[in-house]
Amino acid sequence: AADVSDDLLHVLYTEAQIQDRIKEMAADIERDYEGKELLIVGILRGAVMVMADMARSFHRHVEMDWMAVSSYGSGTKSSGVVRILKDLDTDISGRHVVIVDEIIDTGLTLSWLTSNLSSRNPASVEIATLLRKPEALQMPVDVKYVGWDIPNEFVVGYGLDYRERYRNLRDIGTLAPHVYS
Ligand code: PRP
Ligand code: MG
Repeated sequence: AADVSDDLLHVLYTEAQIQDRIKEMAADIERDYEGKELLIVGILRGAVMVMADMARSFHRHVEMDWMAVSSYGSGTKSSGVVRILKDLDTDISGRHVVIVDEIIDTGLTLSWLTSNLSSRNPASVEIATLLRKPEALQMPVDVKYVGWDIPNEFVVGYGLDYRERYRNLRDIGTLAPHVYS
């Protein structure tokens, strides 16, 4: 039977590389938040994998919560307006918060989310993202923890989808042309 990973043209990051990098990011966060309570907020749905692996890379206590957001209107992100589909269950006032996502593309999602969460009087809000596309950025986003900066190419796997597929790949890569045709 065909394996879903046959649809990858080029593997950018293997499962092992991803796990190593996430452990390093988790170690950086542990060091920075020593002695403080920490809440990590995953942005559904793409951040599920990185949240699960990052949380398990911590040797400390950490709370986890989730948000789901969507661009307003017909799927175009250009408006920069974001709608909350699922809000936090946690009151973050006075809390140290790290928003966790798997990719920053235009920056619109996390730029909006950062200011939204900042308005709730948290002790601090920072961002951790596994991937970032500097060439695609349309909004400035202050990101404290970045796994890798990547070229402006469409990537799938490890939470990243193409039409809701490929999120379950363990590696991250680009899609073969036959997928699009
Ligand atoms: C993707 C990705 C980020 C966001 C980044 O999520 O997971 O959350 O887009 O794009 P931006 O920097 O241009 O805002 P998406 O909204 O596609 O939903 P998903 O996480 O459910 O796949
Ligand atoms: Mg997302």
